[in-house]
Order: sequence, then C-alpha cells, then structure tokens
Amino acid sequence: MSASKTLIAYVSKQGATEESARKISETLRSKFRLEVDLVDLKEQKPLDLVQYQNIIVGGGVRGGRVYGKTLKFLENDLSGKKVAFYVSSTWAGTPGSYENAKSRFVEKTLAKYPKVNVVSAEAFGGRIRYFGKTMVDNTDLAKVEVWAEELGKKFTQ
Ligand SMILES: Cc1cc2nc3c(=O)[nH]c(=O)nc-3n(C[C@H](O)[C@H](O)[C@H](O)COP(=O)(O)O)c2cc1C
Repeated sequence: MSASKTLIAYVSKQGATEESARKISETLRSKFRLEVDLVDLKEQKPLDLVQYQNIIVGGGVRGGRVYGKTLKFLENDLSGKKVAFYVSSTWAGTPGSYENAKSRFVEKTLAKYPKVNVVSAEAFGGRIRYFGKTMVDNTDLAKVEVWAEELGKKFTQ
C-alpha cells in the first residue's frame, strides 16, 4: 500500500480538540483532496501507521500537561512522515497568555520528541464545562481552518 494517506489522531475530553480535528479533516478533504482518517485515541486499537505519509496529532491540556494518550502516541516511530501537532488549552485562547501556552504546551512538549519531524505546530483555545454549563469557551474554529490550509499546502508540496 502506498503511504499517501493523512491521519488525524486526537484525544479530547471537553470536545475542543475533536471539533478542531473535524475542521482540519474537512479542510484537507475539500480543499486539498487528501484522503484523511480521523482517529480518537481514547477508543482506537493499535494502528497501522505505515499507510500514512502525514500525521496530525492533537490533545487537550489539563493541569499544565498535554493529555497522556496524545504524548504516548508521539512515542511511535514516525520517521519519514510529515507530522503536525496541536493542543487545545484555555490559556492559549486567552489574550496575553497565548505565547506562554504555546511555548509551554507545544514547544516544550515537542522538545521531548526530537526524532519527530514536525512541519507545523499550534496552540488553540479550549473550553471548560461543568455539569452541562459552559464556564469558559475560547475555541476558534476560524483559526483552526487557517492552520489546516497551511498544513494542506505543506502536505501537498
Ligand atoms: C480539570 C481541568 C484542568 C485544566 N487545566 C488547564 C491548564 O492547566 N491549562 C490550560 O490552558 N487549560 C486547562 N484546562 C482547560 C482545557 O485545556 C480545555 O478544557 C480544553 O478544551 C481541553 O481540550 P478538550 O476540549 O479537547 O478536552 C483545564 C480543564 C480542566 C477541566
């Protein structure tokens, strides 16, 4: 099988990372004609990564840490693949704390996986819901779509 597909592997607890994953997949399919598989790492059994040329890895942040199953996925052998990484974090969606959130949750996280060929990485806003009530929501799907278009160009050039 040729390694031409794109995988979006994500973990989401409050829904923000999942919505971004769906927006990214829609954009890559409709604007770049890429074949995309969307995989929830909370449910997924072991995956055959050989078939994927491009891999987007996403996860939320809790207690200052990216979700464990997202980090675990980065331990896979992703050599030879174009990898993109994103997090959902309410700090990242708060004016004034975006840079700090990106540095802490994206750059410092990726520094622990030096073998991964990261072509692009981003931090998006998130949301917090308690008992069905939304306490904070600074998600921004328009920003996610712009990033997805950048990824599409990188994956197809
Ligand atoms: C218990 C808890 C702890 C959290 N801790 C942080 C944090 O340390 N930093 C941050 O930016 N956001 C924090 N958040 C907000 C999450 O990043 C936000 O819920 C985000 O949307 C998570 O991604 P998900 O919706 O895909 O699960 C926290 C949320 C909860 C519920």
